[in-house]
Amino acid sequence: MIRRELLLAVAVGLAAPAAHAQETVKIGLILPMTGQQASTGKQVDAAVKLFLAQKGNMVAGKKIEVILKDDTGVPDVAKRLAQELVVNDKVAILAGFGLTPIALAVAPIATQAKVPEVVMAAGTSSITEASPFVVRTAFTLAQSSVPMAEWSIKNGIKKVVTLVSDFGPGIDAEKSFTEKFKADGGTVIESLRVPLRSPDFSPVLQKAADAKPDALFVFVPSGAGAQFVKQFVERGLDKTGIKLIATGDVTDDDQLNGMGDVVIGVINAHNYSANHDSAMNKAYVEAFRKANNGLRPNFMSVGGWDGMNLIYEALKKTNGATDGEKLVAAMKGMAWESPRGPISIDPETRDIVQNIYIRKVEKVGGELYNVEFATIPNVKDPVKAAKK
Ligand code: DHB
Repeated sequence: MIRRELLLAVAVGLAAPAAHAQETVKIGLILPMTGQQASTGKQVDAAVKLFLAQKGNMVAGKKIEVILKDDTGVPDVAKRLAQELVVNDKVAILAGFGLTPIALAVAPIATQAKVPEVVMAAGTSSITEASPFVVRTAFTLAQSSVPMAEWSIKNGIKKVVTLVSDFGPGIDAEKSFTEKFKADGGTVIESLRVPLRSPDFSPVLQKAADAKPDALFVFVPSGAGAQFVKQFVERGLDKTGIKLIATGDVTDDDQLNGMGDVVIGVINAHNYSANHDSAMNKAYVEAFRKANNGLRPNFMSVGGWDGMNLIYEALKKTNGATDGEKLVAAMKGMAWESPRGPISIDPETRDIVQNIYIRKVEKVGGELYNVEFATIPNVKDPVKAAKK
């Protein structure tokens, strides 16, 4: 080999691995895989894995690599992990986020690094305003709380006590339910809150019983519904005639079937039911259960599934370019069919637009499900809509 050829061979040899490395698009998936919010992590991770298994790991000529990190449900841990994923792993996209404080803690890193932050599992309205790089495939609490207030008034409920977890999404649920319920002529007698960490519902349930409302409106995060229902029964509230109404976070598909017949008849509003009647959802539920030992997918899982779809479709639009601003621009206005029904990304707010369903817990084939009986189509986040 003459010297010139040798140099060329060396140059190609050196360049080849670098060029190859650029062909991989890394997604940093930050989820609570352990701790109080572990069911959310498990659901979202399972949906991401199912998406990859079904759609493959190649899109727009790029290989997709998902790097899963456990934030343990702690914002500071998530922040450190996001930093490491951006700086060391050079991820093109950050995704996941099972709690509002975690999505908020990572937002400044997304802004600084110009990396899209795909929020798959947190629902406080303001998250999308924390960074121009946040795009949400999850839900907002106002999306389900406002329709729940509307339904309640129309169905003869006049006096309500609200009970929420005392953090971002709970406060959004309380506020948006109360505003709509009052505007439509209802009265909120009392607004009760419980801590997010290790809540004891007994004292607030006693207060709720004493107030004698027509209904108790409840939001607790995914994973806490079963414990709430247990204490609701232990305190005898199921015998008082006080109706239980809720966001679908309480009658979460992940736990619903274990809650017992006491929840039959509970009316709630939400974006996804495993019982949603569409061909796509039937196939989704079947494949998810098969891949996860019979586990029923919940609303967190579809946030993960759709977050991956959003990323894939954005990469197709940019022809594989991973520039954060280009990716976010491609995501704005995108619309597709989800297992939950038709959804889109509001181009102005980068937040999800989706149907909200009013559901009733019923026994279907021997199992408890949220059975949808009314649809409010294409709901934008009411909190941001009110600001305009
Ligand atoms: C959030 C978390 C939940 O588990 C839920 O059901 C709703 C909202 C949140 O942290 O935003």
